[in-house]
Amino acid sequence: MQDQRLKDFLKEFIISDSQLHEVYKRFTTEIQNGLSLATRKQADIKCYMTYIQDLPTGDEKGNYLALDLGGTNFRVLHVSLKGHHEAEIESKVFVVDKELMTGHGTQLFDHIANCLAEFVNEYSLNNQHLPLGFTFSFPCVQLGLTKALLVRWTKGFNCAGSVQEDVGRLLKEAIARRGDLEINVMAILNDTTGTLMSCAHRNPECRIGVIVGTGCNACYVERVENAELLESEYKVDKTHIIVNTEWGAFGESGKLEFVRTDYDRTIDKASLNVGSQLLEKMISGMYLGELVRLVLADAISENLIFSRTSDKQSLINTLRENVCCFEARFISEIENDNFPDFQQTRTILKELFAMEKASVEDCQKLRYICECISRRAANLVAVGISSLINRIAEPHVVVGVDGSVYRLHPHFDAYMRETMRKLVNPKITFDLMLSEDGSGRGAALVAAVASKN
Ligand code: BG6
Ligand code: GLC
Repeated sequence: MQDQRLKDFLKEFIISDSQLHEVYKRFTTEIQNGLSLATRKQADIKCYMTYIQDLPTGDEKGNYLALDLGGTNFRVLHVSLKGHHEAEIESKVFVVDKELMTGHGTQLFDHIANCLAEFVNEYSLNNQHLPLGFTFSFPCVQLGLTKALLVRWTKGFNCAGSVQEDVGRLLKEAIARRGDLEINVMAILNDTTGTLMSCAHRNPECRIGVIVGTGCNACYVERVENAELLESEYKVDKTHIIVNTEWGAFGESGKLEFVRTDYDRTIDKASLNVGSQLLEKMISGMYLGELVRLVLADAISENLIFSRTSDKQSLINTLRENVCCFEARFISEIENDNFPDFQQTRTILKELFAMEKASVEDCQKLRYICECISRRAANLVAVGISSLINRIAEPHVVVGVDGSVYRLHPHFDAYMRETMRKLVNPKITFDLMLSEDGSGRGAALVAAVASKN
């Protein structure tokens, strides 16, 4: 893409090397602050204890149920761990509509229990007293494996009456209200933990679990002596614990202002959780499409793209009036498109604007806009992962990754690796692995590992 004016317009989305190192430095300090009792109150990144202290060995066996709430899909799963690092999974996706996502917590948990009952009946699993792992992908203060107090809703959820409540209890009460389910809630875990456990089940060198999906977060294996919040009894027999960083909250006390743009501020103001999850809002799938929508509307009005289109104003109106019309998956499709046909880009333009003909030049420009926004997101994820790898400081660290942005975007992995090569200590080698059956297998493994102890 040669157009200098468009390049200048998008400059604020390009993170320079010196800014990258500064974000890295601040991020690394925040992790340390989150772990230390003296500083964690002010820290953006809270580093929650998960109470999971053992990674799977691969020998785990047994039948488990799992729930996965908080990503694009709500799923109920039946997981059979077979030993030899193997698992078989059956699952069903259930709809959680917007009203439930923002209604009362009781309705949400009743819906979860109803879906669980439907699944258990369909697969004839009732009366088996199956242990259940609940992947609940929101920040929680864990008070043990089955007790998790919800700190705040994130992403598109905001249910009344649930913050500060124990989501394990809310689930158990909803199950009890039905009165017909024999289920044993064994563990509550975050999706990053599910990802880490699931990847560690296949690769014992996995130490970090990352989600780049609707939301963005990571967990990692920390040495118990660094986890000041952890009660001493958990430090006697075990050397490590998985820490759920909740790094999506980074920036809430202003530490990212030097790289945030007015577009990021607009997105934050329009969100359900103003002022919260500022790093997440620069990275995750829930916001990336929105960033492109806002940037594109301004670029059109500045005559930087689609300047020869006869009715430019209607393009701008379409973009400004239709919140969320530019889906994150469009970014992946556009960046995956072939020059000079740009077939997918043209299909998207037709769907969005009923545009019949777009010039090759405009398609290239649109791709460039998407690229700047997704590259910035990948750079920021890379900062977080690099900081954790350097903290773990083992000679080789494998990182399990899941989430629709990472899975679907054709270059996200490459963008991340490029930046990680600049930041990871050269004495450490690393690899990224795509998580398979993330939370299902992960939840079953946590339940399995828990029942061993
Ligand atoms: C899935 C995991 O594959 O990825 C979920 O099983 C996780 O637990 C999800 O929440 C995250 O990605 P997305 O894009 O669905 O938010
Ligand atoms: C949000 C949640 C976090 C979750 C992430 C990915 O950041 O707060 O718990 O892991 O989304 O789903």
